[in-house]
Amino acid sequence: MKILVVYYSYSGITKRLAEDIALITNGDLIEIKIDKPYSFSYNTAVKEVREQIEKQYCPKIISDLENVNNYDTIFIGSPNWLKTFAPPILSFLKEVDLSNKTIIPFCTHGGGGFGRMLDDYKKECKNSIIKNGIALKGNYNFEELKSSIQNIL
Ligand SMILES: Cc1cc2nc3c(=O)[nH]c(=O)nc-3n(C[C@H](O)[C@H](O)[C@H](O)COP(=O)(O)O)c2cc1C
Repeated sequence: MKILVVYYSYSGITKRLAEDIALITNGDLIEIKIDKPYSFSYNTAVKEVREQIEKQYCPKIISDLENVNNYDTIFIGSPNWLKTFAPPILSFLKEVDLSNKTIIPFCTHGGGGFGRMLDDYKKECKNSIIKNGIALKGNYNFEELKSSIQNIL
């Protein structure tokens, strides 16, 4: 069973977690990139993101998603943004058919864990099997991550 790890990362922390998960699971990686990246200034980014989340806005993904259909188990990762996943993940969930696939959400956060992210996955992916997943702060321990993944798979 080949695993796919799909992620969006703004400042690199979720990217590192995604790379570690791919290493541990021998999975393939896809980074979700969008056509108009967010502002580098934190406060401006928060404002942009708040407006987008309220409107359920889906930024345009420029990454190649053609191969996603070849995998049955997909780790999907995002920073916790205002208690949910980042808008590029909403774009991904709407663009790709994840019916009957197993989704393992993962996130990095500043103290809020998953927030309401798991509920939001359930709302968007009604025909997928959604596992509890992994929520970590940036200073996580690699060995602990390994055992969390073994418990999930
Ligand atoms: C726009 C924005 C909103 C955020 N909202 C939250 C939040 O609601 N709860 C939380 O715990 N952390 C929040 N954070 C912190 C990020 O989740 C955390 O720094 C994460 O590890 C960043 O991952 P990245 O480097 O992959 O972008 C927010 C960060 C940004 C930039």
